[in-house]
Amino acid sequence: MKNYIKVDEWKIIEEGFEPKYNLISESLFSLGNGRMGQRANFEEAYSGETLQGNYVAGVYYPDKTRVGWWKNGYPEYFAKVLNAANWVGIDVVIDGEQLDLAKCEVSSFRRELNMKEGYLKRTFHAKTTKGKEVDVEAVRFCSMVDDETGVIRYTITPVNFSGPITITSFIDGDVKNKDSNYDEKFWDEVSKASWSDGGYIQMRTRKTGFEVATGQKFTVSQNGPIQSIEKEKYVASEIKLDAVQGQAITLTKYAANLSSQNYPANTLVAELEKTLKAISAKGFEKMLAEQAEAWDKKWQHNDIIIKGDASAQQAIRFNIFQLNQTYTGEDDRLNIGPKGFTGEKYGGSTYWDTEAYCVPFYLATADQKVTRNLLLYRYKQLGKAIDNAKLLGFKDGAALYPMVTMDGTECHNEWEITFEEIHRNGAIAYAIFNYVRYTGDEQYLVDYGLEVLIAIARFWAQRVNWSEDKQLYVILGVTGPNEYENNVNNNWYTSTLATWCMKYTLEVAEKVEAADKTRFDALVARINFDKQKESAKFRDIIERMYYGYDAELGIFLQQDGYLDKEQILVKDLPASERPLNQKWSWDRILRSCYIKQADVLQGLYFFEENYDTDTIRRNYDFYEPRTVHESSLSPCVHAIIAAKLGDEARAYEFYLRTSRLDLDDYNNDTEDGCHITSMAGTWMSVVEGFGGMRVREGKLSFDPFLPEKWQSFSFKVGFRGTSLNITVRKDQVSVSNLSGPEIKVVINNQEHSLAVNNGVVVKSVTLYPPMPNSSK
Ligand code: BGC
Repeated sequence: MKNYIKVDEWKIIEEGFEPKYNLISESLFSLGNGRMGQRANFEEAYSGETLQGNYVAGVYYPDKTRVGWWKNGYPEYFAKVLNAANWVGIDVVIDGEQLDLAKCEVSSFRRELNMKEGYLKRTFHAKTTKGKEVDVEAVRFCSMVDDETGVIRYTITPVNFSGPITITSFIDGDVKNKDSNYDEKFWDEVSKASWSDGGYIQMRTRKTGFEVATGQKFTVSQNGPIQSIEKEKYVASEIKLDAVQGQAITLTKYAANLSSQNYPANTLVAELEKTLKAISAKGFEKMLAEQAEAWDKKWQHNDIIIKGDASAQQAIRFNIFQLNQTYTGEDDRLNIGPKGFTGEKYGGSTYWDTEAYCVPFYLATADQKVTRNLLLYRYKQLGKAIDNAKLLGFKDGAALYPMVTMDGTECHNEWEITFEEIHRNGAIAYAIFNYVRYTGDEQYLVDYGLEVLIAIARFWAQRVNWSEDKQLYVILGVTGPNEYENNVNNNWYTSTLATWCMKYTLEVAEKVEAADKTRFDALVARINFDKQKESAKFRDIIERMYYGYDAELGIFLQQDGYLDKEQILVKDLPASERPLNQKWSWDRILRSCYIKQADVLQGLYFFEENYDTDTIRRNYDFYEPRTVHESSLSPCVHAIIAAKLGDEARAYEFYLRTSRLDLDDYNNDTEDGCHITSMAGTWMSVVEGFGGMRVREGKLSFDPFLPEKWQSFSFKVGFRGTSLNITVRKDQVSVSNLSGPEIKVVINNQEHSLAVNNGVVVKSVTLYPPMPNSSK
């Protein structure tokens, strides 16, 4: 765990130059606007440890899978979001010596991510080996308004000399992915050109044939001869300046990334020139002002205000900021990679993380079309999900959505761990349910939802086995969310989700048939749905599914044989043996009782209304002490359940763990990128955990509590056209209708009607009795 980020409510601040933290800071200070993003690499050359990263959403490369022993059913490739052309580069040569912070004496170094206004600022004082001292200030951002563009204002001031400074502003397409399986480069050059004030490169990805034109247009505050430099996959403009002591030189670099996903490839250059002209005419200051305005609008819907705990305040804003930088919901071809634009890990692909964790965040904080686009992304990939299932021997329109994907094709690279997590199919159905429950948009079911649900239900109906021994259906050979157990039988979460999917499908089918018989009949005919026969099969499985249960402990069994394991609790493990995935052999992990992330508890979180509080409590008491939370997705689920059960102290502890996971580098892996999808879990911990927000019978309800350390917290949510502010203080909860239609809300079990500009203040009560005693 690190502790070098300064606490500030609106900023992430690093003071002092610590090369050993550079990879971590490059992740933390990342920038993005949903369409493109980048790690916080320095503009000038840096020969120390760095991971160059510029990404264009949706542009990927299918890297041939690398495995020791090929098995039928393995995907041929693992898709990777590509490290794309570097547009931030600005080389600076002072009196013949390259400015490189790894070689200079650096002082007054400060990096600041301004989350309120959405920009990154870096300042430092450097002394070259020849003794030349400069002050540098670099401000840059990816524009939220013109989302194919970014801009940098780079200012250098000679402090103790006058003399030559050469500034080279470049676009470099000769980049690689660190995670390339065969050390290949993924881009070929299509064309390039330099202009008197800039230049461009157009690159094409191998295999996938995406073309991206990346260009720059710059202005310099001082005149000097400019020379163009062109090399393979590289264009630059070199500006020779006679610097004068104390006089600042400012280079403003406007950049744009245009992709053939959005324009015909042969028009990219013309479009790029137009875009660069438009943003440079607008100018840096105006772009920055618009950026601040765009972020202000986001914060108006998104902000969570925590009083009395600046570190928690900074953390929650950091999580919300990064989520908004990653996905804006404008384009239903895009999704949310677990690392967003902050690193290469997980290939930038879509995982179940989106449906299980991100959907609640976007539902409450963004327009309903944002979540709808996330659902449509899967709807559009239904054909491929059916193909994926076919490849594995399923038939008749059964769909298995991929665990890891870019375009709908499965592209995981681990069989037992990743592939066998067929539970992701259920999360996709659950997201449809969640969306409709939240928005009330039942038309979605008619237009798209039912078709996806039937295909998923068909998969489950074929995936179960009839057990002669048990005289019940079983589900064999799966991996649950707990990846520290592979190829298990009867994972309770998977089986519960499977039957729930079938139940929900039947319910929706009835609904759609009643609402729009013509559309229903057309769908049934198109996908050959034998309503009678298939529904009967679903019902039979629903009624006769086997679920492991231990009557003595009163708990659901995570999977067959779980209780045969040696039951030593996490608290009795020496700290030196954690994290297990770095300290233990895989063999030892698989045999142990330790749970990587919420599994049974994930099911109880999804379906809490189906279980009484005592059942949830018994399972929480049993599984929590065995959970090591070595997935960032885990603590938030435990936080929400702990809050529900009145275990407020633990709820707060879990929250802290998720909210500052990256800022404090809790798991020692922030250098790979930030845990973007689990950031949505952090938001859930506050809103669903401390705020106790739920949707019940079409209404929002709140059962809040205030963490002891906080004076108050407030959050905003949008619900069916109404925007609400919820403030929780020590002795009261207030909910007000900020805009939109009158709304009914339930606070601590009491219903209130709120017209616009009206609010209600309720004396806060603890709904659930505090935990009697925790087994930790
Ligand atoms: C988790 C998965 C998750 C993936 C991507 C893994 O460590 O165990 O549940 O989907 O990371 O975030």
